[in-house]
Amino acid sequence: MLLEVRDLHVEFHTRDGVAKAVNGVNYTVDEGETLAVLGESGSGKSVTAQAIMGILDTPPGKITGGEVLFQGQDLLKLKEEERRKIRGAGMAMIFQDALSSLNPVLSVGDQLGEMFAVHQGMKRKAARAKAVELMERVGIPASKERVGQYPHQFSGGMRQRIMIAMALSLEPSLIIADEPTTALDVTVQAQVMDLLATLQSELNMGLILITHDLGVVADVADKIAVMYAGRIVETAPVHDIYKAPAHPYTKGLLESIPRLDQKGEELYAIKGLPPNLMRIPPGCAFNPRCPMAQDVCRTDEPPLYEVSQDRRSACHFWRETLNG
Ligand SMILES: Nc1ncnc2c1ncn2[C@@H]1O[C@H](COP(=O)(O)OP(=O)(O)OP(=O)(O)O)[C@@H](O)[C@H]1O
Ligand code: SF4
Ligand SMILES: [Mg+2]
Repeated sequence: MLLEVRDLHVEFHTRDGVAKAVNGVNYTVDEGETLAVLGESGSGKSVTAQAIMGILDTPPGKITGGEVLFQGQDLLKLKEEERRKIRGAGMAMIFQDALSSLNPVLSVGDQLGEMFAVHQGMKRKAARAKAVELMERVGIPASKERVGQYPHQFSGGMRQRIMIAMALSLEPSLIIADEPTTALDVTVQAQVMDLLATLQSELNMGLILITHDLGVVADVADKIAVMYAGRIVETAPVHDIYKAPAHPYTKGLLESIPRLDQKGEELYAIKGLPPNLMRIPPGCAFNPRCPMAQDVCRTDEPPLYEVSQDRRSACHFWRETLNG
């Protein structure tokens, strides 16, 4: 197994109290596999990713439990210096906003080349040639001429390609893409997503794709993990989830996808708001919003029930949901 996250817990200690952002997350990613992580804003998708990458804002954030096994090694036990080596060469992250992630005062060629200079001790000229090669690989036209330009001289889609190039430069075995296309126009979104999926399969990388958008997931993901209030509420192979969700929250998310054949009809939206993470309700955290909630849901926290060999649901009534 490439990556195995076990019972991960993260808290944020703030003036107002302790926000329990991640409350026992488990997921795995194999080589060449794509895991899509879904869930509303604030469900802990990014914080989980930051903990895996070792870039959590500490303080106020703090990992209070769990393991992050990367190629069998628990990253949480490593020294910062050892983790830094793994970032870049072992795993890399792609963020939503390339403009704030790239350095505005360095040319893209210098930034890409730096990866090779720092990690592989390459000379400037060789590093520059590698930069051009990478830019070509991610589909930037006239790469040779543009390698000396600055991030702001590229369009949003091209900048996102440059960030992908940067993440892929050292051919890591795991990529975490956190809403990589959210800031782009719809047509450009599809192109960038295609590029990422193509490169991932060429390089046989594991990919964690964090997104709000269930629409893009069907084409690229192998499996899905749905998060709610810092927990995984359902994990399953992608086709199983689309066929029949086994958790009412997943069902709500699926019914919120705009569909071309239902233009004009009002979308089902999950009523209410996610809980305040300083006061997560007892029992099932989703119970105040769940159309299927019963008394037991307000007292007993559902474990991740085994629905089938590769499928789990944290709902007392997963059978009824699956068949409903
Ligand atoms: N720097 C921080 N300081 C305090 N609390 C934080 C911080 N970062 C995250 N949190 C807490 O962790 C929760 C989960 O945040 P996270 O960024 O993981 O959500 P997300 O699922 O990625 O949402 P989105 O879809 O909006 O990106 C937040 O709601 C917030 O309570
Ligand atoms: S455990 Fe109860 S409240 Fe939670 S999702 Fe299932 S039915 Fe709804
Ligand atoms: Mg996020």
